[in-house]
Amino acid sequence: MGKEQEQYQGIPGPDLIQQMANEYFKAMPGSPIQNNGGPITGNDAPRDLPTDPAQFTRTSPASSGLGASPSAIDHGRSFNLTDPPTSLPDPHFSDGRVPSSIAGSGASKTAVANPEHFDLAEPPLNLPDPLFAGTGLIPHSVPGTKNDIKEPTASDQPIKPFGPASLQVGHIPYTAELPYEKALKGMAGLFQPAFSSTGLPGLQSIVQEPSFYFMHGRESISKNGISFPGNTTAPFDVNLIRRDFPILEEHVNGRRIVWLDNAATTQKPKQVIDRISYFYRHENSNIHRAAHELAARATDAYELARRKLQHFLNASSINEIVFVRGATEAINLVAKSWGEQNLKEGDEILISHLEHHANIVPWQQLAERNGAILKVIPVDDDGQLLMEEYGKLLGPKTRIVSFTHVSNALGTITPARKMVEMAHAAGAKALVDGAQSVSHMRVDVKDLDCDWYVFSGHKVFGPTGIGVLYGKEEILNATQPWQGGGNMIADVRFEKTIYQKAPARWEAGTGNIADAVGLGAAIDYVSRIGIDMISAYEHQLLVYATRQLKQVPGIRLIGTAAEKAGVLSFVMEGYRTEEIGSALNQFGVAVRSGHHCAQPILRRFGVESSVRPSLALYNNCNDIDTMIAVLLRLSSNRSLRFSGIQVQ
Ligand code: ALA
Repeated sequence: MGKEQEQYQGIPGPDLIQQMANEYFKAMPGSPIQNNGGPITGNDAPRDLPTDPAQFTRTSPASSGLGASPSAIDHGRSFNLTDPPTSLPDPHFSDGRVPSSIAGSGASKTAVANPEHFDLAEPPLNLPDPLFAGTGLIPHSVPGTKNDIKEPTASDQPIKPFGPASLQVGHIPYTAELPYEKALKGMAGLFQPAFSSTGLPGLQSIVQEPSFYFMHGRESISKNGISFPGNTTAPFDVNLIRRDFPILEEHVNGRRIVWLDNAATTQKPKQVIDRISYFYRHENSNIHRAAHELAARATDAYELARRKLQHFLNASSINEIVFVRGATEAINLVAKSWGEQNLKEGDEILISHLEHHANIVPWQQLAERNGAILKVIPVDDDGQLLMEEYGKLLGPKTRIVSFTHVSNALGTITPARKMVEMAHAAGAKALVDGAQSVSHMRVDVKDLDCDWYVFSGHKVFGPTGIGVLYGKEEILNATQPWQGGGNMIADVRFEKTIYQKAPARWEAGTGNIADAVGLGAAIDYVSRIGIDMISAYEHQLLVYATRQLKQVPGIRLIGTAAEKAGVLSFVMEGYRTEEIGSALNQFGVAVRSGHHCAQPILRRFGVESSVRPSLALYNNCNDIDTMIAVLLRLSSNRSLRFSGIQVQ
């Protein structure tokens, strides 16, 4: 056994894998390593896609919803998918050493890459924080004041709400301007500059009176453009926003990455990356527990993040914001605490046909345990909920209606406010799954009047492993906690334990402190751009992408609701969905292909899987054009496909 094999215990070492990968890619017809590898544009359709159908059958079905990475599949000779290697090669550490630019400097990679923002010899004492910038103050709590998260007062801190009035640039509570802001403010116009590079029609020329019913009349929209509320003067420039996301500079298969897998997870701006790095460098401690300086800093940072979430969702109280692992954990929390406590045999749980597995399985489990009955609101052929049927399903036995705000598989926006109102009128509670809405549209839990609203931080430019359960305070406090342990107790005796009220009641043990802080930074980021601006921009991009997709022969769109956000789902005659995903990946385009953890709704449309490009604020027309160019090429190759292939 060679030295390298010994070191990696029989698994090929990084160098060998790299070598094999290079050879593999070079050997592929149309390999980007063989050509210039530059980005393709709408006018430069990929001519180097393989024409041999066999080229598209190399992808293992494992990529379809089973979570195997394309590189694992591409390196099939060295990866055993049922027993994956414990250590994948890390390009930065392939020689076993820490990269020299970072080793010993104590600075994050981002800091090294942005020396103008960071003096490495003297790192900033505090990153700009919207609530405290310029005040020189550390937030209000002091070491050891665990249960005393005070409401700040006017004389205390200059807190300004993130509500509609704060959309005015002058109201955005930053005094420290981030580098891109100067340029952003100086730019004239709204969307035009970002959309002229492809030779394809600009967005404004194709938008015909779009409707934004979920914005409740805050915006006025005309054929000539979009007027934003509150005298907002900052333009939305996607190219400037893109600069905040370092990963968008990555190259995949020799092409700059096109990230269209935002419904699975969003990429992170440097503001979030840096905030987490800053936390670990200057604030890291457990929270709510000790009378030392770092405990105070960490507690403050964590509780400040909670307050940002309160403003972002327009919750009545900071106590209504519970940090959880993500939307899935939040739904499980409600099902396993409130559900266990309140549902009995014969009670009814209503969900919709659109739901993600995370909003199906916990309710099924509850129904199995308690003898409750699970009922499903059907959809029409466009993927819109049948509201009349919903009305008929509601009855005196309905205890809860749990439904998605935006479908992750189809993009359908549900009429959430109306649905909550109908649930309440029937005496039921309402939970809204906001995993796919929170990054795309304004969410106002007071306006929705839902009893719970849940989302995952990583879908709104925050870190993974952190999310939010919003719950009405009286419900959170009237429900028995689901997990016991530290932090959630007021007093413990062997005879009896007294619990804290929300939110601590729901946060047993040491939580994901740093990532909660990172999520706070993500919320700042979104708030500073303006969620209504993001909505309007993405809507236009969705209109554009839908129109382009419809022009590709052989494409069938899955989900054509009148009100959609963020997601396009399709199948193409002659190709399996994972083949399309794999072909797009050859050109650096990342989409999800598979069942999207929403099998029932895909089956409603007669398919087991679909290809799902999904949008975020940093996507642009070039991204769409690149994807369309690959799809057009695939489409024109359809005649080469051998007969008998299963058409989905
Ligand atoms: N729920 C995520 C998706 O829709 C993972 O892809």
